[in-house]
Amino acid sequence: MSENILSIDTVSFDEEKKALAIIDQTKLPGKVEILHLTRQEDIFEAIRLLRVRGAPAIGVAAAIGVYLAALDIGEKDYGGFYARFKKAKEYLDSSRPTAVNLSWALNRMERVVLAHKGENPAAIKKFLHDEALDIRDEDVRVCRAIGENGLSLVSDGDGILTHCNAGQLAAVKYGTALAPVHLGRERGMNFRVFCDETRPLLQGARLSAFEMAAAGVDTTVICDNMAGVVMKNGWVNACFVGCDRVAANGDTANKIGTSCVAILAKHYGIPFYVCAPTSTIDMSVKEGKDIVIEERGAEEVTEMWYRERMAPDAVKVFNPAFDVTDNSLITAIVTEFGVARAPYAECFRNMGDFSRFPAENALFQSGEKSTLK
Ligand code: MRU
Repeated sequence: MSENILSIDTVSFDEEKKALAIIDQTKLPGKVEILHLTRQEDIFEAIRLLRVRGAPAIGVAAAIGVYLAALDIGEKDYGGFYARFKKAKEYLDSSRPTAVNLSWALNRMERVVLAHKGENPAAIKKFLHDEALDIRDEDVRVCRAIGENGLSLVSDGDGILTHCNAGQLAAVKYGTALAPVHLGRERGMNFRVFCDETRPLLQGARLSAFEMAAAGVDTTVICDNMAGVVMKNGWVNACFVGCDRVAANGDTANKIGTSCVAILAKHYGIPFYVCAPTSTIDMSVKEGKDIVIEERGAEEVTEMWYRERMAPDAVKVFNPAFDVTDNSLITAIVTEFGVARAPYAECFRNMGDFSRFPAENALFQSGEKSTLK
């Protein structure tokens, strides 16, 4: 396929095939392959194996996935329909634990079913279709707004360091951490982007670098342990990363290694920005230590990407997929509604009810902008 990766939807719904359509990210950058998935087991596996990944993208995939599950439910009475819907929802929700967008999107879908209690399942399926597509479309608007707010923090020509992939491939379009770069490109701005390779699954080298190069950005891939040198050399003006769950106090879970970048950035006096749609803020979790961190298979560390296993057989492997960056290391959290700064809990509360925000709402309508840029 010679098409530019940016012109292909990361996640979409194929109306004709009645299927979830995703770019298989495990094949990138070597091969651009679109998968059409209809079976729940395949959708679960696609999320679990990171064929579709990144917090916003898995939320959208799960919303479409649970709609497809609903289509297959034959029960004609509301009670029977809801029981089977709930089971399908819980199944998809168990595919990955850390990114809150997954349960956020599935809860939104469930609320549609509950709002039509007692009604005909055939009619409810139509509402579920529309909600899934709304979640998808909203993601584009939200990410663009994050890009707009993030862009206000950088200048043309800046060096930006990013970790993992929180770009278009992690969302429907634009992404979060890379949205300012995409938006800047649309406006003729040039950035120098340093992509941490992001061991062990190499989302930085395989995905962010691919996406940035496709956007015509000056892109440099570095191993994770080179970030310090690049910062010391004065090549980085700002760090932009995404996140999977933000606790009420602003502690942030993101791809393993993110906290190391934050510590380095603090040492070198470089601003460290976390970009997050408000759907990623989980006010039910007080602090980062309460965020469930996914642990993945040992083979990702010892075997993947190597011709032969590179660690002795007799060793243990620790493979947490995420780590938590303490809020004290974060310069600001860039959301679709504005740039939040410490104290985060207060700032988030001023944003209101995140789970119901239509993206087109004005920024922080309450007018409590004291902690916002
Ligand atoms: O394991 P992954 O590839 O799903 O991890 C993705 C990340 O850590 C991203 O930075 C995060 O989901 C934000 S995506 C906008």
